[in-house]
Amino acid sequence: MGKKGFIFDLDGVIVDTAKYHYLAWKNLADELGIPFTEEQNEQFKGVSRKRCLEILLEMGGLEVSQEQFNTWLVEKNNDYLEYIEKMNASEILPDVPKVLNYLKQHHVPMALGSASKNAKPILKKVGLIPYFNTIVDGTHVTKAKPDPEVFLIAAAELKVAPEDCIVFEDALAGIEAANSAEMISVGIGDRAVLTEAKYVFKDFTEIDINFIKQLAQL
Ligand code: BG6
Ligand code: MG
Repeated sequence: MGKKGFIFDLDGVIVDTAKYHYLAWKNLADELGIPFTEEQNEQFKGVSRKRCLEILLEMGGLEVSQEQFNTWLVEKNNDYLEYIEKMNASEILPDVPKVLNYLKQHHVPMALGSASKNAKPILKKVGLIPYFNTIVDGTHVTKAKPDPEVFLIAAAELKVAPEDCIVFEDALAGIEAANSAEMISVGIGDRAVLTEAKYVFKDFTEIDINFIKQLAQL
């Protein structure tokens, strides 16, 4: 077994932006008269912006022109950008720094693996850019989660074999992506949702540093 690499999803794992994505989609759904609950929002987690809008329109049984589609994509993102504009380090989820600091101190390679095209500005706002050896986001990938592309690119950039990578994810699509890349999947959230994850924790406060030590084989 070789050197280990850690890959983190962003939204809902490192920062609580999943709630802002939900609020921005909910605003658009309300405008279009499409009922949209937090439960339905689970399907949007880890999924590209474009695919989210397709799902929303399918839910509402709406077929629209390409032009209208693009207008709503921009509208949702502008709304989302207003939420994230005010973000700062206080929105890093509890005990995430504990894990990132430990890995950094032990020189374990770390990557960000996110579907978001807003990943870099968010990481900048919360001051976490220096932790990551590489940032792979929605601007780099052509195939969205559950396709493993984003994590495979991250592993290649870390120069770590996929089977030696550990992925932290809050989305079912992300867990599926990690599993199909043959990586170790760690779910952050609800066990009832993240059924296919190898390990599940409600949040990082439940993660003991010894668990990280074992995963990293330090
Ligand atoms: C993922 C989120 O991280 O990024 C999804 O879980 C979101 O909910 C996706 O749709 C794309 O994000 P963005 O910022 O490019 O619209
Ligand atoms: Mg996520």
